[in-house]
Amino acid sequence: MFFERLTKLFRRPPEYITVAVAQAQRVSQPAQALPPSRLPRHVAIIMDGNGRWAQARGMSRSAGHAAGTEALRDIIRASDDWGIEALSLYAFSTENWARSKEEVGALMALLLKYFSSEIDELDEKNVRITILGDVDGLPEAQREAVISAMERTRDNTGLKLNIALNYGGRAELTRAARLLAEQVREGALDPEDIDEDLFAQQLYTADSPDVDLLIRTSGEQRLSNFLPWQTTYAEFVFDTVNWPDFDRARYMKCLQVYADRDRRFGGVKSDGEAKP
Ligand code: IPE
Ligand code: IPE
Ligand code: MG
Repeated sequence: MFFERLTKLFRRPPEYITVAVAQAQRVSQPAQALPPSRLPRHVAIIMDGNGRWAQARGMSRSAGHAAGTEALRDIIRASDDWGIEALSLYAFSTENWARSKEEVGALMALLLKYFSSEIDELDEKNVRITILGDVDGLPEAQREAVISAMERTRDNTGLKLNIALNYGGRAELTRAARLLAEQVREGALDPEDIDEDLFAQQLYTADSPDVDLLIRTSGEQRLSNFLPWQTTYAEFVFDTVNWPDFDRARYMKCLQVYADRDRRFGGVKSDGEAKP
């Protein structure tokens, strides 16, 4: 009994204590391995704050987006190194078309540049690329580049890298309803057979598990139409840095925060303390 109490008191493994101390001291901590059972299977990131990052430096918003692609590289590599199963990145929303022609053009140009410079390495690392969103709404060159990246990496079995481009959560849900309705109209599906699993299979993320951890940079605390179905039970972690300043050390801190959360899914505490 006494020992049970004592182990409850000290039940956190030592690495959590080390990280808590490092966080308190604001020391940049090298990446530490988390126990695999505490690692999220699916991480989603809203990469926000490129514009503010650039503005603070007297640079153009487009220069901020270019700087953001460096952080992107680092975070994809880290996810691969740490054995994350799926990583979903919000790169361009259906609402982002409302930005100036110049900014949209710069983002589209970066997209092309990114795919042509990274695809060889990603393929070599066995990364499987999936685009979340309406690729038909992209300009032709961008559409061809992303479709060819998806086709080239289709059989890869490593990190599932989902890039949300021309993506909107409500558009994704509406599309899923339409796909099911078409199957019903063709006589291939009985409405009685529509359940949550079948619905999830109509989404762009059909091959990935639900999102465990959602990270948003820049201090904003909203979903902005990103993965509403998939994040229903996700843990949210908000970092105040703008996206170009996000790096693998900050990423690891987000993973540590996640690992310390108690996910209950409507049930009771996982360590049995709060039994009914
Ligand atoms: C995120 O940075 C990148 C995209 C939306 C493409 P923002 O461009 O939204 O940067 P802020 O929020 O204006 O600082
Ligand atoms: C969300 O960021 C979209 C991406 C990061 C691609 P926004 O900057 O567009 O979102 P709001 O406008 O602040 O909600
Ligand atoms: Mg923004």
